[in-house]
Amino acid sequence: MQFAAPAEHYDRFMGRYAPTLSAALADFGGVSAGMRVVDVGCGPGGLTSQLVARVGAENVAAIDPAPQFVGACRDRHPGADVREGVAEQLPWPDGRFDAALSALVIAFMTDPDRGVREMARVTRPGGTVAACMWDLATGGMTMLQTFWSAVRDVDPTAAGERRLPGARDGDIAERLRRAGLQDVTAGALTAHADYESFDDFWEPFTLAVGPAGQYLQSLTPDRRAAIRQGCRQALPQGSFRLQARAWCARGTVPVAG
Ligand SMILES: C[S@@+](CC[C@H](N)C(=O)[O-])C[C@H]1O[C@@H](n2cnc3c(N)ncnc32)[C@H](O)[C@@H]1O
Repeated sequence: MQFAAPAEHYDRFMGRYAPTLSAALADFGGVSAGMRVVDVGCGPGGLTSQLVARVGAENVAAIDPAPQFVGACRDRHPGADVREGVAEQLPWPDGRFDAALSALVIAFMTDPDRGVREMARVTRPGGTVAACMWDLATGGMTMLQTFWSAVRDVDPTAAGERRLPGARDGDIAERLRRAGLQDVTAGALTAHADYESFDDFWEPFTLAVGPAGQYLQSLTPDRRAAIRQGCRQALPQGSFRLQARAWCARGTVPVAG
């Protein structure tokens, strides 16, 4: 799936979960000083920031197919090796990194299994591949669950995002095992975002970012208004914090012999 929105719009929609999600994924992937790491599907660089803080920009590479995200990620992380491209065809040699990480990208790859195989290829034997994707199957990502629940009250046939690759418990771990990774461990990460008001929650949905924003944009104004009202009724008055669960998995690249 293509992300055409400006980086600032992504920041307001999903980027506000990046600080907590990225820290949790980097911990889960064992990222620490002295490692060389790559962020696959970096977007504007939420996870890249966390990796740069841990290992230094000179030890961080990142890649994304959306040129406006690549530009933002480069501007935000001088010294990091930020490329335009896809997970399925990474432009680095075999074994270049100690760890390859990917946050919220499996669902949007054209061929997720191939993307995972490429992450394993560019990671050295004994290194780690780790990825996460929101729990969209059982509703652990409150912001998107609130939205799609309001959508289904208006349009029960809406496909939503729950069947996307990576969105159910165990899916990422299965992909890592299929890619030949060893000692695969699955788990869940928690993240959160703070909202000043309902408008602060709703307005980013109108920016056409990702499947939810693009779906909303395709509707008539009265349907959009009905979904807005459904979300309004489901959320607290005033400021609030929303929790979000992501499924994750990590595995180790086998050592030959
Ligand atoms: C939900 S965003 C996640 C961005 C970032 N990792 C984050 O956590 O904020 C999904 C990203 O996947 C990228 N993407 C889509 N298809 C991809 C592919 N085949 N390979 C790598 N990245 C891809 C999009 O351009 C977008 O930046």
